[in-house]
Amino acid sequence: MKSQDIRATFLNFFKEKAHLVVPSAPMVTKDDPTLMFVNSGMAPFKEYFLGNANPKKNRITDSQKCLRVSGKHNDLEEVGYDTYHHTLFEMLGNWSFGDYFKKEAIAWAWELLTEVYKIDKDILYVTVFEGSTDDDNLKMDTEAFDIWKQYIDEDRILTGNKKDNFWEMGEQGPCGPCSEIHVDIRSAEEKAKIDGKTLINKDHPQVVEIWNLVFMQFNRKANGKLEDLPNKHIDTGMGFERLCMVLQNVQSNYDTDVFIPMIEKISKITNVKYGLDKQQDIAIRVISDHVRAVAFSIADGQLPSNNGAGYVIRRILRRAIRYGFTFLNTKEAFIYKLVSTLSEQMGSAFPELKAQQSFIENVIREEENSFLRTLDKGLLLLDKIIEESATKEISGNSAFELYDTFGFPVDLTALILSEKGFTLDEKGFNEELQKQKNRSRAASETSTEDWTVLLDDSLEEFVGYDELEATVKITRYRKVTSKKEGEMYQLVFNLTPFYAEGGGQVGDKGILENSQGEIVQILDTKKENNVIIHFSKELPTHLNNSFKAIVNKKHRQKVTCNHTATHLLHEALRSVLGTHVTQKGSAVSAKSLRFDFSHFSKLTTEEIVAVEDFVNKRIEAQIPLEENRNIPMEKAIENGAMALFGEKYGDTVRTIKFGKSIELCGGTHVQNTGNIWQFKINSESAVAAGIRRIEAITNNAVKEVFTKNEHTLVAIKNLLNNSKEPLKAVLKLQEENANLQNQITILLKEKAQNLSGEINKQLQEINGVKFIAKKVDLDANGIKNLAFEIGKEHNNAFLLFASSPAKDKAILTCYISKELANNRGYDAGKVVRELGKFIHGGGGGQNFFATAGGKNPDGIAKVLEKAKDYLM
Ligand code: ALA
Repeated sequence: MKSQDIRATFLNFFKEKAHLVVPSAPMVTKDDPTLMFVNSGMAPFKEYFLGNANPKKNRITDSQKCLRVSGKHNDLEEVGYDTYHHTLFEMLGNWSFGDYFKKEAIAWAWELLTEVYKIDKDILYVTVFEGSTDDDNLKMDTEAFDIWKQYIDEDRILTGNKKDNFWEMGEQGPCGPCSEIHVDIRSAEEKAKIDGKTLINKDHPQVVEIWNLVFMQFNRKANGKLEDLPNKHIDTGMGFERLCMVLQNVQSNYDTDVFIPMIEKISKITNVKYGLDKQQDIAIRVISDHVRAVAFSIADGQLPSNNGAGYVIRRILRRAIRYGFTFLNTKEAFIYKLVSTLSEQMGSAFPELKAQQSFIENVIREEENSFLRTLDKGLLLLDKIIEESATKEISGNSAFELYDTFGFPVDLTALILSEKGFTLDEKGFNEELQKQKNRSRAASETSTEDWTVLLDDSLEEFVGYDELEATVKITRYRKVTSKKEGEMYQLVFNLTPFYAEGGGQVGDKGILENSQGEIVQILDTKKENNVIIHFSKELPTHLNNSFKAIVNKKHRQKVTCNHTATHLLHEALRSVLGTHVTQKGSAVSAKSLRFDFSHFSKLTTEEIVAVEDFVNKRIEAQIPLEENRNIPMEKAIENGAMALFGEKYGDTVRTIKFGKSIELCGGTHVQNTGNIWQFKINSESAVAAGIRRIEAITNNAVKEVFTKNEHTLVAIKNLLNNSKEPLKAVLKLQEENANLQNQITILLKEKAQNLSGEINKQLQEINGVKFIAKKVDLDANGIKNLAFEIGKEHNNAFLLFASSPAKDKAILTCYISKELANNRGYDAGKVVRELGKFIHGGGGGQNFFATAGGKNPDGIAKVLEKAKDYLM
């Protein structure tokens, strides 16, 4: 069975069991502070388990892209070394939200594996939760045990502890006992030697878990206690690549058709065959795995960067580059060439790959090139460290500096050192690393209390498109303490006019006021797993009262102008530059707007002006807003709205239309483009390969800039004697200035020539050296010319000139004929370095010419006196 058919068979099976088939959610999470990436099939459905939203249907199935490279589930270091862990993998899943439970979940899993996929029952084992004697004090899952007994021999049902048979998504949240299904695909000979049962959950590459059936029945609270969930749910996850391994009758995930084309391509590019050398095989597996994680992440809108999720992606890509560099001898960018293979193979199941193939290639190529440059620089530095080291062991500190400041990987450092007969103080390195980790942990430490529930109303309605004030009740609140922000309260209302940060737009600010006039400031609004959370520094005294929630209108209005302007800007860019422009990110605040988009080159001044004009014309045209709040996704797309990759959309969406600009958007917008008043681009720059950024302002912010510019112009005119034509006057000044500069250059040259004649006569002859130490009144360039002018007449000159171009500035210049420098050990660099301390400065250069600068002209006299000491 081909992998594509294996996936389709799974989805069809559950479709026939009345499940709704949904596409994979984006891999990068947006409104879940506990999770950077989707790390299991259930993560996108968390809000349903928590009861914060209702699913479209209570039975769902899908194949979800998952990434396990950070947080609670992190497999990164295993990848490549074994044959069945991955950074990115597909998790096939079926879900019941308060519908069927253990009986059906187990029956269907068994039916699919043994009757549809026809896996031999004799290679299957299952596990059930044995219970726990810790604080949770949980009973054994006898219910699951009894159900399994109907399908499989009792001695193939094993019990497992909490680590393996109690599934928790994170530190908090929904959880429950689980049953895992394992396969034993070893040869008959191997099986005869060791009983498969003893190898379950023992990291054997051919005795692996393929499917996990989680019976969600608890919620883990912040205080560590478990509480029953209001409804019981099913969450299952089957490792797609492992299933392919079993069904394609091979011994490694990398021998399935999911990976073979990629491995062949890597072999072709690097000329290294897979299967011949252990270390090279690891490198090939690492690269074939990592390119998938990186490409899918970029397709979902997450580019490699220096922080957060972007940094995780950058590290994965760098790990791949490093393995290529070290073990496959790849010294040039090559990973980007694998994207086409991936897109050919997976593009039909995941169209986002195909649609953005060349963009993904560009981003990866640029990242590779820049990291290869880092590696080159690091290698030079490492050479220097080795050269200067007094012992055969390199300190942990040096390696840490290479790693921390230059991004040079420590395993590479260790490898190079060992090749050169050196060792690394690994303990010292790890200590430095730990210190750094402690520092960043301390900085980001937060403690979150459990919610205090005041009112049972979990579906908080947002009324803020129409109202900026509403009467609300607080349904729950909690305290969060962090190093960064101190103590903060998070409040949830039954309904709210406050817009929560999202779609690039910042959250609303405002106040909460009770009937006695008590006011609590709302400092920010954010969404977490679909719940709108209001942030305040204090808690209102009468928590159970009704409150007036009032949005800060001025702030909202500014943000709104900027948001509508981003839509107009998007339209303008597509019109001026072409339809290859698509949105890659945006940040809309009260102060300004930022818009990132795909485009290959820097915008010319004409293009910037054209874009600005385009937007301002749309503003002048006073186009009214046409908003559609509940339109089916297909209809919106049909009308011309563009869905962004990496965004999670519901069945029905909201569209925002201003004339021809139509976008899917949840943000707030002006009623008429005329309200924006003016639009002005402040800057245009590069963000990453193929991505440009425009920063702009609207409305009053533009007015402020105009006013400031007006004041500057008036001041300039005043300086130019009230010139009516300041531009002409400035040009004239520039011309005069250039003429004067020319004259000065000529005069200085003449002066240097005169001086050189004079100084030539003053040279003293000491020990066969023509010597002078003198203060001259020239700039640095003039002194250089002077020194070389005199120097060319002699082969035994030692000249030291000092000057003081400003009150607190001193310059030293030392010229020594090459014959003296090369044959008699004179060193101009040493002279200025040492004499530099008298002028409170330093410098250097070559042995025949060197300069130093300092802050203390008073030291010049001492310098001139001491210079003679350097004669030998
Ligand atoms: N959520 C379960 C897992 O990831 C199915 O293993």
